[in-house]
Amino acid sequence: MSRAAVVCGLGAWVPPRVVPNDVLAEQLDTSDEWIRTRTGIERRHVIEPGDATSDLAVEAGRRALASAAARGGAEAEGIDLVVLATSTPDHPCPATAPVVAERLGLGGVAAFDVGAVCTGFVYALAVAASMLTAGTAQRALVIGADTFSTILDPGDRTTRAIFGDGAGAVVLRTGDADEPGALLGFDLGSDGAGSDMITVRAGGSRQRSTGEPAPEGDQYFSMAGRAVFTEAVLNMSKSAQNLIDRIGWTGDASVDRVVAHQANVRILRAVGDQLGLADEQIVVNLDKVGNTVAGSIPLALADAVAAGDVRPGHRVLLTGFGGGLTWGSAALRWPDLALVPDPTPTLRKEQS
Ligand code: ACO
Repeated sequence: MSRAAVVCGLGAWVPPRVVPNDVLAEQLDTSDEWIRTRTGIERRHVIEPGDATSDLAVEAGRRALASAAARGGAEAEGIDLVVLATSTPDHPCPATAPVVAERLGLGGVAAFDVGAVCTGFVYALAVAASMLTAGTAQRALVIGADTFSTILDPGDRTTRAIFGDGAGAVVLRTGDADEPGALLGFDLGSDGAGSDMITVRAGGSRQRSTGEPAPEGDQYFSMAGRAVFTEAVLNMSKSAQNLIDRIGWTGDASVDRVVAHQANVRILRAVGDQLGLADEQIVVNLDKVGNTVAGSIPLALADAVAAGDVRPGHRVLLTGFGGGLTWGSAALRWPDLALVPDPTPTLRKEQS
């Protein structure tokens, strides 16, 4: 039996404030009908002013730890690694993961951020799993969390229609590759030639180093929507198929559910078609939450598990695509986990 990282806890969190399409249509030249038919999104959740990504990450992390503890043991027992996937850290420097670890009562453990935009959660999972199988860590909390509402141009109907805030997390422990929950493989890739397609131009060393104020609008997130659509379908399909071929999920042992990055239902349908899967096999929750970036895949997974759509024993393929450009897939057989909706009252917020 070979050593593997095994998923043993799952949790997710979205902030309470809901913004339905109709509210966007009051502010922008758009309509509920356009957003629904072009993206499949009906509403999204948005943080309150003053809240930040770590607030969401802590809530999702707490639920994942409680889910891991539900089968026995203390919530935070043995966690020695926190990896946070995010492109909207609380501050440009330092990373947000150490604050999240401290607020979860895990202060002192290894903690760092991973930035791969919408592919961030799959990358973070791969990094944590590799550290566990190498023996560098024993038990990891892997979180995807983003608050894109903080970086969108208030006047941009395209991005405001798509993005929402949210977070999801899993707990990984070391175990054997033939156990339910074992991560069976990864496929990761990137194409820096497409870095301009999904970007926030200002705020990093490239523009800051000139000393000139950033051109108006460069502080906001921008995306070449149609080109990104094509790249998303192509790269998620290719990455997912590479991994399926590598781990031999064919014939009677083929994929049961695909949990893909939730950006547009038309992208999800196209990926399903490319993989020869039925619509029911592709998990969809973007209607309720929009594109929550690094939170998207674990949030969709948690919704699907809560709804009984992803069940113990299912062969589950996670696949994501995002800025960088980046893409990645992961595979596992779903374990029998207890989801814990709200284990304990909210922890204190970081005072700024
Ligand atoms: N309401 C009304 N009209 C709109 C809206 C809106 N919310 N948004 C765009 N339009 C308009 C455009 O302005 C354009 O008008 P024009 O023809 O007069 O110029 C028209 O609709 C068509 O624009 P397209 O961009 O071609 O529309 P499309 O059907 O491609 O939908 C969308 C746009 C939803 C952004 C789509 O391209 C998409 O989903 N792209 C992929 C997004 C994605 O996958 N992101 C994941 C990675 S993001 C990350 O990593 C953070």
